[in-house]
Order: sequence, then C-alpha cells, then structure tokens
Amino acid sequence: MKEIYLRAPATVGNVGPGFDIFAFSLKEPYDEFEIRLTNSDSIDVEIQNSIVELPTVPSDNTGSLAVIHLLEKLGIKRGIHITIQKKMPISSGLGSSGASAAASIYGVNKILGLGLSNNEMIDIARRGEVVSGGSPHADNVAAALLGGFIFIRSYKPMDVGRIEIPRIPLVLNVMRKKEKTTRSFIPGELSLSLVGEQTSHCAMVIHSLMKGDIEEFGEAIRCDHISEPIRSNSIKGYWEIKEKILDAGAYGFNISGGGSSVFAVCNEENQDEIAHLMEQEFKKRGQTPHIITTETCNEGVKELNN
Ligand code: HSE
Repeated sequence: MKEIYLRAPATVGNVGPGFDIFAFSLKEPYDEFEIRLTNSDSIDVEIQNSIVELPTVPSDNTGSLAVIHLLEKLGIKRGIHITIQKKMPISSGLGSSGASAAASIYGVNKILGLGLSNNEMIDIARRGEVVSGGSPHADNVAAALLGGFIFIRSYKPMDVGRIEIPRIPLVLNVMRKKEKTTRSFIPGELSLSLVGEQTSHCAMVIHSLMKGDIEEFGEAIRCDHISEPIRSNSIKGYWEIKEKILDAGAYGFNISGGGSSVFAVCNEENQDEIAHLMEQEFKKRGQTPHIITTETCNEGVKELNN
C-alpha cells in the first residue's frame, strides 16, 4: 500500500470535569486526509480548503510533527506526504489538531505495516499536540483515533479506556480563541474540597455513560474547577448564557477542550430550541455565532479507501 485515505472526527476534550483525561468524538465536523509514501526522505504537509492559513512547515503542524517523532523513534527514513482537507474549524477547542495527529499516525502505521497498538499510536500522536496546545495531552487524539468516549487510565505508560457512547444530541457555538493556547493560565493547584467535587463529577460521567443516562451525563459535565473558571473569561457572558441554556432544559453546558467553543447536552425534543437560544444569547452580546447541531458518535479514524 502506497497511500491511504482517511477521515477523522472533531472531538470535545475535557468533557467538563475530566481535564486532559476525558473526550468524545462528534459525528460532524471532520477532516479528510491522504497519507502517501513518497520517494524522498522528507515529511511534507499540504492543507487544502482551509479558510485560514495553517502551518505547513513539518515541525509546526501536529500531523507531520507526530510522524517525525514516530519515524525518529523507530529509526526509519521514509518520505511521507500528508494532505489535509480541512473541513473543521481550527483553534476552537474542537480537536482539529488532535484529529490531524491521530489520522497521520494511523495512516503511517498502516502503510508501513508497523503494527502499533492503539496506546502506542496515541502516545506518539499526542506529541504532535505540543505545537498547537503547548502540551502533549492525549484526550483529543485518543477520541479522534478510537471514537466514542475515551478516558485516560494512565499517561505513563499510555493507557486509554473506551466506552461506547450513547447518541447524545448536542449544540455547539464554535468560537476561535484569541490566544494560541490558554493552558498556561490554569493554576497548578486546587483545594481539597474542589478536588472532591471534581472527582465526584468524573465518577458521575462514567456512571452515566455505563447506564446510558443522558440526563445524568449532562449534570456531570456541568462542573469543572480546572479549565472552566479560567477559559470562561474569554467568552463574553459565559456564566449568564450557561444559566439560560440550562434553565431552558439543556442537561449540561461547558467549554469544549481548550475553548472558546461551548457545547450543550440536549435531547431530541429541545435541540433546535437550545440552538436558537444559544444563537440569540451570543448575538445579544455582539458576537457572530457559529451554531452547529450535531451528536456524539462512536467512529474514530475511518479508512475511506474501500
Ligand atoms: N485537555 C486539553 C486542554 C484539550 O484542556 O488543554 C485541548 O483541546
């Protein structure tokens, strides 16, 4: 095999209380990829369709950087050309960079017949994230690779668990963050009482998914004492909008990954109403909302060849 065509989904990282350890994949949007062996010994990346300029210097792009790490680690010299068909928004906390890293590593593993396990692929792919988010977090790459809901059991060694996620209707407002990353503003310490609350909500997330209880899932994802207090500062009217969306019947609301996109957990009956309300609330505050109605999905990186 000389080339492979793939698709990788957008993902919601953190999922409320699970900072760097929880994520799930979305049915839409997604990006498409061609990963091709070439006769050179360089790693190249080409981006098509993007409305904004994205890095194509190999060490600055999450996909090619992850491949550079992989080939260096294995001592392999091969030429690889990565083409990314951009269909999803970037720098918005929807895992676009994680999807590129996950698809690139999946593709190279497949065309070179490396036989890497899922955990090995995630461990390498997350290294690509350093150029976009400043840290090798694995939540987005794991959900993009495996689909469904993922939880990180351990970073050292990399060990990722996966739970089939029920179909959950979602409403998102996609917003680009002004800063490249907001991680550095997150304090390194948390009081014991907040740790307790955070941990109980993490347990509730897993419990709700095991039961298939979307209402409990929504309640569980409302709480976060790590990322939300900091990242909400970049979203005008965040706490008021959250209250309105929950009062209108959404089960949960929080920031997606590194922000500034937000997501609401809905049911089939109220999804359109929540979408309308979210649009109005952001408009009222002088923003131009980009509302997406979508749902969770269990598909990760998918081969499009056959
Ligand atoms: N866990 C990562 C973070 C997700 O919070 O920075 C980034 O999308």
